[in-house]
Amino acid sequence: MEFRSLLRDRHSVRSFRPDDVEQEKVLRILQDAIRSPSAGNLQSWEFMLVRNADVKKRLAEAALDQDFIAEAPVVLVVCADTGKSGWKYGDRGKNFYCLLDVSMASMIILLSAAEEGLGACFVAAFDDREVSEILRLPEQVRPIGIIPIGYSGEMPEITSRMPLDKVLHIETW
Ligand SMILES: Cc1cc2nc3c(=O)[nH]c(=O)nc-3n(C[C@H](O)[C@H](O)[C@H](O)COP(=O)(O)O)c2cc1C
Repeated sequence: MEFRSLLRDRHSVRSFRPDDVEQEKVLRILQDAIRSPSAGNLQSWEFMLVRNADVKKRLAEAALDQDFIAEAPVVLVVCADTGKSGWKYGDRGKNFYCLLDVSMASMIILLSAAEEGLGACFVAAFDDREVSEILRLPEQVRPIGIIPIGYSGEMPEITSRMPLDKVLHIETW
């Protein structure tokens, strides 16, 4: 898809058809994600790919019962390895850069899923500790987002944006 059409057409999808998502598509999406920029090119992201129904259900519960997570055939949990950017950049790497690395990769995941004809939603309302326990994440790996992916089962809600002139501040000082 042409880039600007892709940007316009991507919407959060919160209802999924039961049809499976081809593993090649998931891997293409992740190959795109790892092209993202990262602080010092340290690539502090880690991706957990979940298809197991019980694990998806537990993740949905950990995310304040956002049941659509369990409905998606594929759930990616995007995580930050705080140690990867921490070793070079100290606290700023650990508390800030690695979150940005994963955020950037997450945006690519959403766009790449749309390019593949799939729907997705970035979910960050969840209990960190519960998600870490469910996925048995090592201490230094922090879950940043849960991204259910599947073929859309809804007409997504078209969200609006504040006009640019409300958020753009051109130097006048
Ligand atoms: C940091 C962050 C946290 C979010 N958490 C949730 C969430 O927990 N549940 C959810 O349904 N959507 C969540 N979203 C998706 C937003 O609600 C959605 O992107 C926003 O309403 C704009 O809609 P759009 O993605 O369709 O353009 C989150 C998005 C971001 C960036």
